[in-house]
Amino acid sequence: MSDDLERLKREASERLERITSEDDLADWHRDFLGRQGQITSAMKGISQLPAEERPAFGQAVNALRNELQEAFDNRQDQVLAASLQSRLQQESVDVTLPGRTPLAGTLHPVTRMIREITRVFGLMGFQTVEGPEVEDAYYAFDALNIPQDHPARDVWDTIFIESEQREIVLRPHTSPMQIRTMEQVEPPVRVVVPGRCYRYEALDATHEWHFHQIEGLAVDTSITMTDLKGTLAEFARQIFGQERKVRFRCDYFPFVEPGVDFAIDCMFCEGKGCRVCSGTGWIELLGAGMVHPNVLRHVGYDPDVYTGWAFGMGIERIAMLKYGIEDIRHFYQGDVRFLSQFNRVFA
Ligand code: PHE
Repeated sequence: MSDDLERLKREASERLERITSEDDLADWHRDFLGRQGQITSAMKGISQLPAEERPAFGQAVNALRNELQEAFDNRQDQVLAASLQSRLQQESVDVTLPGRTPLAGTLHPVTRMIREITRVFGLMGFQTVEGPEVEDAYYAFDALNIPQDHPARDVWDTIFIESEQREIVLRPHTSPMQIRTMEQVEPPVRVVVPGRCYRYEALDATHEWHFHQIEGLAVDTSITMTDLKGTLAEFARQIFGQERKVRFRCDYFPFVEPGVDFAIDCMFCEGKGCRVCSGTGWIELLGAGMVHPNVLRHVGYDPDVYTGWAFGMGIERIAMLKYGIEDIRHFYQGDVRFLSQFNRVFA
């Protein structure tokens, strides 16, 4: 072998031995075995040799190429094995660590309260229906015996939607669904209507600009106030305890006659008087009454044949009383510390 080839072999071998990285391996391969590498240029040098020396030189270069290729393959195996080994050490997983519990979402307390209340009324034969939150003023007021310009219209601090043709509102109560339901079906009617309501209201611990109500409606032949009291007493005892006493007092709503407010004895002080019941011993839960004959006429029910009653309650208020929540604004601040407390309560 010529001196040049000897030198080439020594240089290549020495460099190869020092290589520890894949990048250096690639450089080495390019410099010696690549298309522009030293073996290729040695082969090109053959043309300068006398004809009789060419075959021997050609064989020597080929032998050297094969030798270097083999040495390269071995070195490459060693380098890859070493780097795999160190990666395995660095990236190893400690399978003895405890797993992380994923955060599971839960139902909002208002959703759970709606399910609890509609379940109680469901057991008494009431179907749950829902209606639109963006409502025609006809359903929100007129058909409920609250004509345009009637002062009672101001009682519901309504949020109006701009509209050229008709008066459109965000419903301030669920009572419009009384009308929509009766328009759809003939008596007997027994429905409860949970849903979101909106009022233009100054916010404080008991007022939100949006909140939820559940409406109840029963219409049939010979429905009386006694049925109303019995149904509401059963509801109150299912939610607040079997020992609850109930109370009706006169109240005014344009769409009922007579109208009442329904209260239970205070479960915090057993009726003695405390902070929650403002010292009265009673807690007002909802408004109710016998459906006004004008309302029945509006939907084409004959008030001489059919009677009925309706009630409407604020769902947040029920949840606040049941679970001792002191501020309605907690419901809508999205604070997980508040919301997650209801995982267990409603199990
Ligand atoms: N809609 C009334 C309110 O929002 C409550 C109510 C419903 C009263 C049904 C009587 C009958 O205050």
